[in-house]
Amino acid sequence: MKVNGSVESLDVEPWVSLLDALRERLGLTGPKKGCDQGACGACTVLADGVRINACLALAVQYDGREITTIEGVAHPLQEAFVRNDGLQCGYCTPGQICSAIGMLAEYEAGMPSAVPESSGLDEAQIRERMSGNLCRCGAYNGIMDAIKEVSG
Ligand code: FES
Ligand code: FES
Repeated sequence: MKVNGSVESLDVEPWVSLLDALRERLGLTGPKKGCDQGACGACTVLADGVRINACLALAVQYDGREITTIEGVAHPLQEAFVRNDGLQCGYCTPGQICSAIGMLAEYEAGMPSAVPESSGLDEAQIRERMSGNLCRCGAYNGIMDAIKEVSG
């Protein structure tokens, strides 16, 4: 697979998750292991530009695909997170940023949200679209402000 622009050849057992392959085999510890069961979003990466939970994906399924982790991201959201104090412990941050990049692309592509659209990508929409990413410390409002700033 291609990871952050580099072609990586991995020899992994069929049961190895993409998250473990990235963290343990390639040393990319940006994607975090939170729940390891698809509930927290800390492990979010982009696969061909689409956000996925790497803990729920098998590495072998992504043979030949293009994976982007936080280490391969250069996006205005990163500075917006700093400006808006969107990180406290920072544990959820890589997943929040990768997820927000994917979310903005989904919105641009016209993918619907469970929240009816009133006026563009408003706060209720952002909260719903980012609901797969949990922040367990006090940074959540800063995260929302950072995403609002970049999407607005
Ligand atoms: S570690 Fe993947 S969703 Fe929590
Ligand atoms: S910044 Fe601490 S869990 Fe989100």
